[in-house]
Amino acid sequence: MLPQLSEAVMDTIADALVETGYIVLSNTLPATVCEQLLQTSKNATWDDFRPAAIGRGGEQQFVESIRSDQIRWLTEQRPADKQYLDLMTQLREGMNKRLFMGLFDFESHYAIYEPGAFYQKHSDVLQGTRNRILTSVLFLNHDWQPEHAGELVVYDKADNKLETITPEFGKWVVFLSEHFPHEVLPTTVNRYSIAGWFRVSNANHGF
Ligand code: OGA
Ligand code: MN
Repeated sequence: MLPQLSEAVMDTIADALVETGYIVLSNTLPATVCEQLLQTSKNATWDDFRPAAIGRGGEQQFVESIRSDQIRWLTEQRPADKQYLDLMTQLREGMNKRLFMGLFDFESHYAIYEPGAFYQKHSDVLQGTRNRILTSVLFLNHDWQPEHAGELVVYDKADNKLETITPEFGKWVVFLSEHFPHEVLPTTVNRYSIAGWFRVSNANHGF
């Protein structure tokens, strides 16, 4: 059977987006899908992953002082990726139905943070565009321990620290991209995650 996000889960997420703008969920996405995603990330060769860039197109820069993770974009062609992308399609349609968000598509990448890697405080809304509306981050680390670090720290627009989120297997964070600067603290072990963005069409929202 195809994995499904229940209506109740989508109600919970929609309510949180209205109330606070973000939600941290545990064990909501099917564990079997999470496990396949983790294996897909681990089984990739290092050639499949690339140092993550900052910015877009001609503006792209590789700035290791800002972020030092390695990424690989998801594609419908890989079975684990497709299951996850299908779940995100359900979320996209569910949020559009409940909140009229007009989410148009979803882009997503695996990330591996090797020991010492981090991502400094940033906004997911790329400069010169406003098309990233909703961020999703899924963590895939079994047996996470405090000394492994690599927490995701979420701030509000006034720079108050809102949450320090441990990157444990199956934990899933969804937030309004524009409202929450965030950072990945340096990890001490290989840290696996999947970050993704629901976007509106540039035709209507670019500038
Ligand atoms: C990002 C990001 C967080 C994570 O890629 O923009 O904030 O935990 N990732 O992977
Ligand atoms: Mn981010």
